[in-house]
Amino acid sequence: MKADIVIKSIDNLITLKGPNRARKGNEMKEIGLIKNGILATKEDKIIYVGEGELPPEIEITEETIVIDGKGKTITPGLVDSHTHLVHGGSRENELAMKLKGAKYLDILEAGGGIHSTMKATRKASFDELYEKAKKSLDVMLSFGVTTVEAKSGYGIEDFDTEIKQMEVAKKLNDEHHVDVVSTFMGAHAIPIEYKDEPRKFIDIIINEMIPEVAERQLAKFCDVFCEKGVFSIEESKEILEAGIKHGLLPKIHADEIEPLGGAELAAQIGCVSADHLVAASEKGIEMMAEKGILANLLPGTSFNLQSGKYAPARKMIERGVAVALSTDYNPGSCPTENMQLIMSFASLLLKMTPEEVITAVTINGAASLKLEDKIGSLEVGKKADIVVFDAPNLEYIIYHFGINHTDRVIKNGKQAFV
Ligand code: NIG
Ligand code: FE
Repeated sequence: MKADIVIKSIDNLITLKGPNRARKGNEMKEIGLIKNGILATKEDKIIYVGEGELPPEIEITEETIVIDGKGKTITPGLVDSHTHLVHGGSRENELAMKLKGAKYLDILEAGGGIHSTMKATRKASFDELYEKAKKSLDVMLSFGVTTVEAKSGYGIEDFDTEIKQMEVAKKLNDEHHVDVVSTFMGAHAIPIEYKDEPRKFIDIIINEMIPEVAERQLAKFCDVFCEKGVFSIEESKEILEAGIKHGLLPKIHADEIEPLGGAELAAQIGCVSADHLVAASEKGIEMMAEKGILANLLPGTSFNLQSGKYAPARKMIERGVAVALSTDYNPGSCPTENMQLIMSFASLLLKMTPEEVITAVTINGAASLKLEDKIGSLEVGKKADIVVFDAPNLEYIIYHFGINHTDRVIKNGKQAFV
């Protein structure tokens, strides 16, 4: 077989070889490291991963792109499995308020926060949203990200805007190198006009929005902001169960600020992931471990909210939970597309080891999007989504923080960023 791309003499080839499922607890240490590694791709797939030289059946021809892996660290394409990619505007105007001590939920309650991004998103045309999100995707790709999840949730009661966001995500998925997986998150805030009668809005989500999103195949997942003053446990449960009924897989913004019992709910209804979990209870963590629910942690958000509180990653891993990591990229609580910074935050602030971190942003991120059989590890038959880091080892990428270590990114077997 003729290879399209061969990367040889790789100092550190991190394969994440193993079962096609989220790696939990102690399994997160096993990263399948190969020294003096070699890897070959054909079309959009990996055809060989090993040590030393290629076997005779894999041919290097004149057309083969041969990359020298000396001094490089190579990993599966990074997966950013929780973002609010498509939105209008930015909220740097909140910085001064936040520095004076204003809290995220207070700004939201006063009609700012998500509500202000909602206005900007509503005002923006399809093309404006597309161009802005495309620019962010380009940045994400440059940091080694090859698959991104994108939530709606800035149209809220304006369903046309929700649809516009999901259609932008769909077009980006069709046209951009990076794969974009769509999540419906109409339940992102209680609209101001429904403040006194949230039930009416919940009924609209359940009876009108979810069926149409599912019918038009605009999203794979359904997500809810389960938080004090936003959607309660009971309301979140109802919305997520309505999604399940229509084939939308459940995800949840759980226990981000207040310990409401979101982790328990995630375990109870079998969410694909519970995200944030800064204030998750001991019982919630145990229930997640027992039910095998993935914890998707977003340390960039904790950092930016300046609460000084971080998700108890160590406790989760010790209890046997599988942990993924994401940016939560959005214009309010985490305005950054930089996955490598999140990896450093996870290590420095959540005390995760470099092995746990790379597992969290590859195979566990893939599992958080139910794509673990296609991406997330470098194994024969999987998609050729590969990052070449200009770094002598994994620790260096995480330790030397705040800069971009990417040398090149291969996506679907093509050099997407060089
Ligand atoms: O995950 N917490 C709710 N949603 C987002 C923030 C969205 C925003 O502030 O615009 C989050 O942090
Ligand atoms: Fe979020």
